[in-house]
Amino acid sequence: MAEPTDNKAGIEQFQAAPQPQQVRVEDIPDVLPVLPISNNVIFPATITPVAIGKPKSLAAVEGAMTADKLIVAIAMRPAGTEEEAAESAEDLYEYGTVCSILKLLRMPDGTMRILVQGLRKAKIEAIAEQEPAIRARLTIIEESAERTREIEALMRNVVELINKIVSMVSYLPDELRSAAMSIEDPLMLAYLVATLFRLKIEEKQRILELDNLTEKYRVLLRILNREVEILEIGGKIKEDVQTEITKAQREYYLREQLKAIQHELGETDETQAEVEEIDERLATLELPDEVRTEAEREVKRLRRIPPISPEHQIIRTYLDWIIELPWRVSTDDNLDLDRARNILDEDHYGLDKVKERIVEYLAVRNLKHDTHGPILCFVGPPGTGKTSLGQSIARALGRQFIRMSLGGMRDEAEIRGHRRTYIGAMPGRILQSIRRAGSNNPVMMLDEMDKVGADFRGDPSSALLEVLDPAQNNTFRDHYLNLAFDLSKVLFIGTANILHTIQPALRDRMEVIQLSGYTTEEKIEIATKYLVPRQIEENGLNADQIEFTREAIQRIIEAYTREAGVRNLEREIGGICRKVAFKFASKEGRRVVVEPDAIPDYLGPQKVFPEVARRTSVPGVATGLAWTEAGGDVLFIEATKMPGGKSLQLTGQLGDVMQESARAAVSCVRARAEAIGLPADFYEKNDLHVHVPAGAIPKDGPSAGVVMATAIVSCVSEIPVSNRVAMTGEITLTGVVLPVGGIKEKVLAARRAGITKVILPARNENDVKEIPDELCKGIEFVFAEDIGQVLDAAFNGSLPIKRPKVHA
Ligand SMILES: Nc1ncnc2c1ncn2[C@@H]1O[C@H](COP(=O)(O)OP(=O)(O)OP(=O)(O)O)[C@@H](O)[C@H]1O
Ligand SMILES: [Mg+2]
Repeated sequence: MAEPTDNKAGIEQFQAAPQPQQVRVEDIPDVLPVLPISNNVIFPATITPVAIGKPKSLAAVEGAMTADKLIVAIAMRPAGTEEEAAESAEDLYEYGTVCSILKLLRMPDGTMRILVQGLRKAKIEAIAEQEPAIRARLTIIEESAERTREIEALMRNVVELINKIVSMVSYLPDELRSAAMSIEDPLMLAYLVATLFRLKIEEKQRILELDNLTEKYRVLLRILNREVEILEIGGKIKEDVQTEITKAQREYYLREQLKAIQHELGETDETQAEVEEIDERLATLELPDEVRTEAEREVKRLRRIPPISPEHQIIRTYLDWIIELPWRVSTDDNLDLDRARNILDEDHYGLDKVKERIVEYLAVRNLKHDTHGPILCFVGPPGTGKTSLGQSIARALGRQFIRMSLGGMRDEAEIRGHRRTYIGAMPGRILQSIRRAGSNNPVMMLDEMDKVGADFRGDPSSALLEVLDPAQNNTFRDHYLNLAFDLSKVLFIGTANILHTIQPALRDRMEVIQLSGYTTEEKIEIATKYLVPRQIEENGLNADQIEFTREAIQRIIEAYTREAGVRNLEREIGGICRKVAFKFASKEGRRVVVEPDAIPDYLGPQKVFPEVARRTSVPGVATGLAWTEAGGDVLFIEATKMPGGKSLQLTGQLGDVMQESARAAVSCVRARAEAIGLPADFYEKNDLHVHVPAGAIPKDGPSAGVVMATAIVSCVSEIPVSNRVAMTGEITLTGVVLPVGGIKEKVLAARRAGITKVILPARNENDVKEIPDELCKGIEFVFAEDIGQVLDAAFNGSLPIKRPKVHA
């Protein structure tokens, strides 16, 4: 049996072969030796190399060589295995190809290589001989090779498909395209294609056997089309597999590389352990769903990112924040009302209104457990106990206390934090405080709310709006975390010295509680009960070593401090304690009882003087009541006249409103000069100068109108104002006295200054009713409708005032 060698060689030889021999049909003998071919079919018009090793094939070739070199190559029906395929005549197909042997090569092992050229198709009629070679009787079949239109079209199709297949298959050389195109003979083309493509034996044989050329082409086309389809699918599969593999390979490769790098840096185990630890901690925490999802996502990212990358640390910090924040951790409120009230009383004297409010809150909590924390705002002068009250409230409720000073804060990001995309981003102060508190229901004190700034970096007040809105603050979103945190359980307490610099929307969200300054009596109580014991302890003394008499404390309050609160008082008491402590420390200490007379030894000469009497002893000075951030205060307005005419000077850093109110006062007095009993031409002959000490402190506002008018009248009439009188009120050109603010603070200031008569606008009478009686004790209030009544009271009737008619 003979075996074809590989196809590639076949093409080369096909092209390189000498021109096919022209053998005429008549020259072909009837009986020829048979060359059985396994696994291939040899077609006419093609040149094929064949390897021959089996005895009958060898004998057949030998026989042909001794005769006219003609042989008939017949394919064998496919057999199970090589061994089974005997060279028996029964296995041969019925049709074969008469070939001429072009070349013969004898191999050293006795086998042969031959090159055969197919000449004609032949049908086997009978087997003439079996031994030593098979010989068969043949009929030569002439085939038509007419190029009809149909054949032409079929040929083009075939060429096209060949082009396609060649481009897709690596075992077919590119030259095949040009070869296929250049073939004119349709039969030749059909056979060439059938030779070159890897078709099944049955298929090849069928192409050989079919008589009709069109039929041949149709079969061929079907086979080629199928082949293209298979190739296409194969290509796609291959491509998919390829990308799959390259991706997997790449990842594997990178991972290995990463491992190597980490190993080199000695980091693998540690980092792994670190991530595991975070994972475990997260698992034990009770977190809102949103937070857990986000945390898990970040942990996943953390595993992927090598620890040397800066991103790693950023994610770690973020996860730390998630772990540390008390998402669901609350402290239990102490809802015992009596206990709470006791604690509040323990820490602060007075302040009943605030204490009541807190106890009320607790009472409501007792009834309804999920109430929102109220948002309180303590407003009052410095040192009146706003901040320390917050601490005390936290203690009474049994909650954590955190204080956040908003003073000077300008950047919105301080409240809400920076987005994580910024380097060094952090959560805002709210969440920082919560983390420090370790519970989600602390008492959070927003101190100095009136001193929040605002500029191009944003307005922190606006961020606070959300924090302090009970409807929104249960989903407070910090820029850094970008996760909703529930702030609704927090008890917010704001503090401020003045209300009007707080953004109105913010003010509106809070329940304002006013703390006014303390009277001397209250201060004495506060000092004996709280400040003195505290300072004694702070300076390392005990009650056996030092004692303050009531009179001494009063002396300190009156001669060494002038304030609404008790901060300076505490400082002065502290100063005395320090000096005593020093004596004990230097071993010369004896028990000390601090008496009023001894105070200058400790604190130096008197610092504050009751100025009113001294200052108003001359004509032209009137005592006004002012309201400042530090509470109320007295202020003196001086007026003087000098020869000249019609000029008015105003000094003492007066704001526009105050200057205008001074001019109005002058005009008001001039217009009524006669009625008041002043020379009608006083302004014609004199220059006036109004001055408000202390000249370095800016002052503004209309409430000193009546004071200025009084000072001018006193100066012109040369009658001094009563030194027990102080006043406040705006004045109009028609002489009407208009109401002003801060009455309570002003009254307290008057008391401190030893004033006994306070002249107020008539329309402020209601404000006075709200002041506790004990604060008003010893003060006579005069409610004036017009300048005449003011002057009456101020000069105790020593001016010959004719009542002018007033239209209010
Ligand atoms: N009624 C009071 N009873 C006992 N101590 C008081 C009272 N009022 C104030 N104090 C004490 O005075 C000191 C100053 O009070 P605190 O710091 O709370 O003032 P503040 O109102 O916050 O002032 P500022 O407006 O300047 O912040 C604290 O030590 C506080 O304990
Ligand atoms: Mg404070």
